[in-house]
Amino acid sequence: MSKKISKAVFPVAGLGTRFLPATKAIPKEMLPIVDKPLMQYAVEEAVAAGIDTMVFITGRTKNSITEHFDKAYEMEKELEARNKLETLKIIRDIMPAHVSYVCIRQPEALGLGHAVYCARPVIGDEPFAVILPDDLIEDGSRGCIKQMVELYEQTQSSVLGVERVNPQDTGSYGIVKTGEYTGKYAPIDLIVEKPKPEVAPSNLAVVGRYILTPAIFDKIKNTGRGAGGEIQLTDAIADLMKDEQVLAFEFEGKRYDCGSKLGFFNRHSGIWFIA
Ligand code: UTP
Repeated sequence: MSKKISKAVFPVAGLGTRFLPATKAIPKEMLPIVDKPLMQYAVEEAVAAGIDTMVFITGRTKNSITEHFDKAYEMEKELEARNKLETLKIIRDIMPAHVSYVCIRQPEALGLGHAVYCARPVIGDEPFAVILPDDLIEDGSRGCIKQMVELYEQTQSSVLGVERVNPQDTGSYGIVKTGEYTGKYAPIDLIVEKPKPEVAPSNLAVVGRYILTPAIFDKIKNTGRGAGGEIQLTDAIADLMKDEQVLAFEFEGKRYDCGSKLGFFNRHSGIWFIA
């Protein structure tokens, strides 16, 4: 399979319970780092990777995400009339003209695997990217997903973004055990969802960046409920590994877990210290 990665899936239908009460009515993906919502960082990362179709998997209370990317005719007219041309450009660039987006409702928050499966009618038979906007990754250059697209183009294999985490934190992640490294990537031998530290095969954690081949969809379809009673993407990837090589890739860049208060605070405080 040598198709180009032109679509990115953004599963944003989760409940965001770790950020309540802020996320009761506001999606966590719309929480801003100063003046830009997490969701916009994620879309910009995809655009930088040459992706031109964004697939948002949304749920109830998530309408502001799609509204953020809608064209704002009245506001644009008003800014033009006031000659605020720099601000006008910022607003217009939120979704570049060559990029389109599609929204699909996940009827129930049944898990990340299920959310990705909801994208199947739009993705079809192509490899695709998955970006979780609450993992904000900054590398100061081309972006994490671009690095992963390049590795896919080189290997034609599914690629999972991974990083070393505190061994005490393995219970919050999918954890992988790998074979021998070539540069920054290695084939995955084993993947387990949220193992306790005492049984974790390593401290190499899967973060919110994936390149997946379309074979994942049949695997998710056959995946029952796993950890936390949810349909887990990790379990479907474990199944995919029986048929295809899946790579772990230690990307360049710094990740902030903005789905947690501490990670979000760390990203914010970084800005204040620089300023
Ligand atoms: P999380 O594990 O962070 O869950 O989901 P959550 O509900 O968003 O947040 P907490 O843990 O309750 O605070 C990881 C990603 O998967 C998406 C989430 O929106 C997030 O981007 N997701 C999760 C879905 O889209 N649907 C689901 O059913 C579950």
